[in-house]
Amino acid sequence: MALEKIFRDLVTGSALLGVIGLIAAVLLLFITRFLLPKKGERLLRVPAFFLFVHMGAMLLRLVVPEEASITVAIKFVSLLALLFAFGRLIGLLVLEVVLGRRMQRPVPAILRDIAQGVLYLFLLLGALRALGFDPGSILTTGAVVTAVIGLSLQETLGNLVAGLSIQMQRPFDVGDWIAFDNEKRHIGRVVEINWRATKVVTLDDVEVIVPNGMLAKAPIVNFTKPTKSSRRSVYISVAYEVPPRRVHEVILDALRDTPGVLTDPAPSVVTNNFAESGIEYWVRFWTDQFDKRDGVDGGVRDRIYYALHRANFTIPFPQRTVHLHQVSDETRAREDASSALKRESALGNVDILSVLDRSVLKRLATLATTRLFSPGETIVRQDDDADELYIIERGTVVVLLESAGKETSEVTRLGPGQFFGEMALVTGEKRQATVRAYTECELMVIGHEPFHDVLSASPNLVKELSRVLAERQTMLDEHAESMPMSDREREVNVKSLQFIDRIKHFFQL
Ligand code: CMP
Repeated sequence: MALEKIFRDLVTGSALLGVIGLIAAVLLLFITRFLLPKKGERLLRVPAFFLFVHMGAMLLRLVVPEEASITVAIKFVSLLALLFAFGRLIGLLVLEVVLGRRMQRPVPAILRDIAQGVLYLFLLLGALRALGFDPGSILTTGAVVTAVIGLSLQETLGNLVAGLSIQMQRPFDVGDWIAFDNEKRHIGRVVEINWRATKVVTLDDVEVIVPNGMLAKAPIVNFTKPTKSSRRSVYISVAYEVPPRRVHEVILDALRDTPGVLTDPAPSVVTNNFAESGIEYWVRFWTDQFDKRDGVDGGVRDRIYYALHRANFTIPFPQRTVHLHQVSDETRAREDASSALKRESALGNVDILSVLDRSVLKRLATLATTRLFSPGETIVRQDDDADELYIIERGTVVVLLESAGKETSEVTRLGPGQFFGEMALVTGEKRQATVRAYTECELMVIGHEPFHDVLSASPNLVKELSRVLAERQTMLDEHAESMPMSDREREVNVKSLQFIDRIKHFFQL
């Protein structure tokens, strides 16, 4: 056994051999550091520690006399530490550098641990033999010792075998989202599978360490397989008076471009139950953001709430809550008058409407309605047909331009007292841009008819409006990079005149 002879020479040999070994190991440490990927540098802590132990033992040898009985033990520790350092460094080179590069991803922790463990055991047994001990005889000295070791290793070995079977069968990989019991707080992302346990980080950012043996017996739900997307469900009730088809339409429309909700597979709605207080709807949608699923569910509920609110559909209270709400005609009239007054004052803040008489504003306020939008909701979509104009009472909106083949770009933001949606309304063309709520917004909506009445009553308004339209159109053209800045003023004037004609023609003024 050549290896055994080398070990024996090292144990009995001079300190010179120890120094040569140390220098060789330090060289290997630097080579490994150079070859390891940047993140792997912390893996060098263990071999560095072994080298320190080796150095400490060699220094001890300087002060302890050669013939002292402890000298053999010191030599043994010194040799073992040096061998372990070599073993670890060679292991790192083979597993992390050679195999890691070939596999294009980090070597599984479990493979690394087992290979390392076997190597350490092999080196320990070799070193023991070199000292004249027969490791086999140590293990078999007493049946009791063997039994105790066997029993205590039972669980560890079980975990090891289970860990290996996880690696082979791959019910989940590192990075997958899994549930391994019925506790919701245990759902988490797998961050490591080692020889003893699997580490999972839950949504609360808490690390849960699950012994592999336990995972082998548990029914595992993998949310990341077969695809990264998984279906989510939200339940919502709407009053019996509203026909289910209408509710389906409003909900599906509300889910368009809700953050985190995939369009393919498309969301769907099922009329789920005729419940005590209303009809229950089961809203199903897919998301590929499993880590943000609670937020995505919440966003979906928000969108549905706002959409139902705008459509005047009631989300019923549980029937157990006695909700007595009697509204007399008189009270209703008072409420309507108060919201019309609020709208009238908001109309007073719109610059271009200052040309209108107080009586016209009052009439407009009674004919308009108010709608609520949540942040991120699309209010008007580019290229859609249009018959409404919006005046911002509260909140901020973003105007976005989608040019063919280009990213959507922000044109501008509008706030209280400003308006949008006029371009398509007064020209009869499609919407020129998409407008989205940036914050929660309360918007006054004016339909085609009332607006027509106001325009016919005020030629000045047509002029003012044409100016705004021309400026906005010019800005859109600039944004689409179709016009140099220098031509701006001339362009606005020309467009303004054209718009006057177009508005008059469209509204037959
Ligand atoms: P409309 O085309 O009906 O729908 C999109 C709306 O975005 C448009 O009317 C304008 O009200 C608004 N809009 C487009 N461009 C601008 C701009 N440059 N500045 C402000 N609002 C704009």
